[in-house]
Amino acid sequence: MKKTKSKTAKKESEKPSKNNLKYYEIIEKYGGDILNHEEFLKQKTFMQHGKMNTYDHVLAVTNRAIGISKHLPFKIDESALVRAGLLHDYYLYDWHHPGKGHHFHFFRHGRWAKENAIRDFNVNKREQNAIRWHMFPASIVPPRHLEGWYITIADKACAAKEFIIRHK
Ligand SMILES: [Fe+2]
Ligand SMILES: [Fe+2]
Repeated sequence: MKKTKSKTAKKESEKPSKNNLKYYEIIEKYGGDILNHEEFLKQKTFMQHGKMNTYDHVLAVTNRAIGISKHLPFKIDESALVRAGLLHDYYLYDWHHPGKGHHFHFFRHGRWAKENAIRDFNVNKREQNAIRWHMFPASIVPPRHLEGWYITIADKACAAKEFIIRHK
């Protein structure tokens, strides 16, 4: 019984939340409007990898991308990093059940995420580029700015972790 409880507690702690995201304050500072947006919250109902939903995934990726930027000496636009990180998978459907017109999700969702992000949050050019090309190298075109590179790297690291947790 005790073992089951601690296992459940561990599973919960693996999920990103206000309490276990190291850089949540920075995320809230630049992305508060996104975090509370009705459309963005819908991502809680879409599964990403394993047992993680898209909402938790993009928070984890943004947190990790900030972490990468903190360990490197390069100057970046932290607001763009947060906003593009939160919106990099803003395609707004469950890719396990792609609807009409959502074929080739893996290669094409960066474009749909960018279009939705422009529509709902008026993201700037730097943010658009990071969202559009976050699937590099699958996207062929690499991100143009450092923020995009950090998101791309953080996304792969988080996806690998989510995949491993799923198969534990
Ligand atoms: Fe993605
Ligand atoms: Fe992602």
